[in-house]
Amino acid sequence: MKKYTSLKDIENLSGTIQKAIQLKESPYQFADLGKHKTLVMLFFNASLRTRLSTEKAAKNLGMEVSVLNITNAWNMEFEDGTVMNLSTSEHIKEASMVISQYADIIAVRAFPTLENKEKDRAETVLNSFVKYATVPIVNMESATDHPLQALADAITITETKTVSKPKVVLSWAPHPKALPHSVANGFVHLMHNMDVEFVITHPEGYELDSEITKEFPIEYNQEKAFENADFIYAKNWSSFNEYGKILNEDPNWMITQEKIGAAKFMHCLPIRRNVVAEDAVLDGENSLVIEQANNRTFAAQIVLKEILTHLS
Ligand code: CP
Repeated sequence: MKKYTSLKDIENLSGTIQKAIQLKESPYQFADLGKHKTLVMLFFNASLRTRLSTEKAAKNLGMEVSVLNITNAWNMEFEDGTVMNLSTSEHIKEASMVISQYADIIAVRAFPTLENKEKDRAETVLNSFVKYATVPIVNMESATDHPLQALADAITITETKTVSKPKVVLSWAPHPKALPHSVANGFVHLMHNMDVEFVITHPEGYELDSEITKEFPIEYNQEKAFENADFIYAKNWSSFNEYGKILNEDPNWMITQEKIGAAKFMHCLPIRRNVVAEDAVLDGENSLVIEQANNRTFAAQIVLKEILTHLS
């Protein structure tokens, strides 16, 4: 693997999941692989899980880790040809090339604007690092995708499924803020690559990018979508068609224990209790959210391990 900006960078998903599960059983088996190598993690946005799990993963491989909150650095310019006499102080060209001298791998988190759809779909920040950095790039959640979360979710489903082809439902759930599509998109990309029966449920108007959802069925009746589900993955996202808008806050879409029955519950976290899902779901024995977060370490570790192997 030369980089990890999307799930497409994984050639053999099932093999990678199995390797991640082996790493989980023996996390320090490649503790010398990253010796004298540095991971630089750049955060344009907040994080708890991604920051800590990716750092842990790198350290399990013997890497050094540097973390920079971009809000503490110079305000960065991404457009070419700009006369930089306003608020931006440093161009991505210099920044990427300079950081590449301090890093063997650069990991970037940069959320969408949710205001400029074309700019967000162009993945301006992530792709600028891919273009100008001279070392491999890892996507720690970009404007349209969250492939490390998707890989952790793949590990979690593989570890916990009790039938060979489970029914998996991605359900929109309410939220007071306009949220990105990245986690939902990443999960849909994953579903294209796993042997599952997959259904998406959301209120009308919350259709995701049809180029991503493609042929998957959309069921506007949440109760019907949940029938015979093995896994229910809850996530809020803002409208894609009316870009970045909140169209619906109907609490009837909240995930309840009564609705999910015996299905396993998944969410990427952080989650707003009793808004997205009720306490009984999160505290119930079928909640996988803590294990999903645990698997973030091993998703990041297998990705870093594969990239390091390619470097050396
Ligand atoms: N799921 C996830 O990416 O969590 P953080 O935003 O806390 O990193």
